[in-house]
Amino acid sequence: MTIDRSKPAKLRALAAIALAGIAAAPLLAAPADQIRTRIDGYRDLGAAFKTLNDGLRAPSPQPPVLRAAVQRIRAAAGRQYGWYPAGSGPRPGVKTAAKPEIWAQGARFRQLQDGFAVQAAALERAVSTGNAAAIRAAARSLGGSCKACHDQFRVEAN
Ligand code: HEC
Repeated sequence: MTIDRSKPAKLRALAAIALAGIAAAPLLAAPADQIRTRIDGYRDLGAAFKTLNDGLRAPSPQPPVLRAAVQRIRAAAGRQYGWYPAGSGPRPGVKTAAKPEIWAQGARFRQLQDGFAVQAAALERAVSTGNAAAIRAAARSLGGSCKACHDQFRVEAN
């Protein structure tokens, strides 16, 4: 049996290329793509919240529907922290409702993100109890956390 001595070198070369690709990825992500990711994320969040609220209007809310919706909301609460990379704010030629203050008042914005994440976790706990009144109250609080941020950091739709 012959030993292919070139193999480790080839593997090393491939690994180097793969690593270079990973390192280069953030640089290659254009602001437009980052804004797309953010807006798509919020659309999914909005749709999940609507599904939840529609579910709660039913005479006897269906637990699997509520559970699936709250999981999507929790996922968004985790992902939101990656939705505001530097350079993804408003600038000529890009369409975004994110205000520049998000990057200028990072600490305040972060508090509102955390507030949303806390309410999403509370909603998940309420859903797990199956108590419709508690779930409705938690959903209202969650809606308040969306509004608090939109009022301050999102350009009003016209
Ligand atoms: C910490 C701030 C913050 C929180 C919390 C927040 N949002 Fe937003 N939301 C934004 C910003 C900023 C935008 C504008 C994003 C852009 O245009 O780049 C936005 C946009 C949206 C959009 C519009 C997406 C589109 O089609 O353009 C929807 C829908 C939305 N949010 C729903 C929600 C819901 C529902 C919640 C709560 C469950 C929520 N958001 C919580 C900041 C927030």
